[in-house]
Amino acid sequence: MTDRTSALDFSLHRSDFMVVIHGNRIDFGSPAAWEEDQLLPTGALGLSPAAAVLSYGLGVFEGLKVHRSRDGRLLGFRVGDHARRFQRSAETLTLASLPVERFQAAVQRLAAANRALVPEREAGSLYVRALLFADEPMLGLAPCRKFCAAFYCSPVGSYFAAAAGIRLRLLNQARVAAGGTGSAKAIGNYSGSLVVRSRWQARGFDDVLYSHAGGGGRITETTGSNPFVRFGDNTVATPRLDDQILPGITRDSVLALLRDDGEAIAERDVTAEEILGGGRELFCTGTAWTVQPVSELHDGRHHRAFAEQETSRRLRERLDRIKTGDLPDRHGWISDIS
Ligand SMILES: Cc1ncc(COP(=O)(O)O)c(C=O)c1O
Repeated sequence: MTDRTSALDFSLHRSDFMVVIHGNRIDFGSPAAWEEDQLLPTGALGLSPAAAVLSYGLGVFEGLKVHRSRDGRLLGFRVGDHARRFQRSAETLTLASLPVERFQAAVQRLAAANRALVPEREAGSLYVRALLFADEPMLGLAPCRKFCAAFYCSPVGSYFAAAAGIRLRLLNQARVAAGGTGSAKAIGNYSGSLVVRSRWQARGFDDVLYSHAGGGGRITETTGSNPFVRFGDNTVATPRLDDQILPGITRDSVLALLRDDGEAIAERDVTAEEILGGGRELFCTGTAWTVQPVSELHDGRHHRAFAEQETSRRLRERLDRIKTGDLPDRHGWISDIS
């Protein structure tokens, strides 16, 4: 953990408070009863070593941002959409889902309690991490009846140190199994990708771009973002959603902004070959990554450099200004937390 005076990057800083909500259900088919939210000093969560999440990865998470506006208000970005994805992720893993209004209230309570940590608008934002996991002691693998939802936060700045584009290694390998948990923000998806990303980071790449398990040279996404490519005919394409792609909320926001600008957009199969052969601009989107230009893509035999960054810079700036309340919120994405 870094202290509060360090320059902001995407690392964990000390926070004052966390919110914890315990839930349980009679059996897998019954709705869960969720207890009152508890606002607690940020600290350890007591867990049995037999908690199912620890052996079987029965946990999901969300990451969203709260920004400080010019007049000092705290603004949450698409909190309801994160709450709904949290529910879908939980259902994919047989976990109980937290009602949307409970998620929204927890984010509000957390941000208000940690208000002093929300950076000034030019300096960064407050990143809120929501967790939902099975804390029931279990020996065998089975759907659980006891859950914990926990919300904590950290002030953050840029994910990547370099303002210029990042280098991506294209892999002929899938991030997740076909028919698995790829469209959920399941913790196991990330533990599996770390070893892969680390291997390529050691060779000078910032991240990897995965292929589709179904073949055909289709790309899916990176370890933590959705890719977009502008082709020579000016269309902007992004892989269509399926069970191997997380439906990114930034992806959806960027699609809406491109639509607002009257751009030709396509959610379709996108192949590595067409990007390496004719991609003009490549960028990736995510809550932590925001809109990140890519400067180079390699597949081991071929290499393409992308000099153009006009679209990603324009979208990033617009999105940043919407999030901080400097531009009108035409899509209903912003919630006022204070
Ligand atoms: C695998 C993966 N894809 C895409 C994204 C981007 O999603 P979002 O824009 O909702 O943060 C993330 C980050 O949450 C991710 O972990």
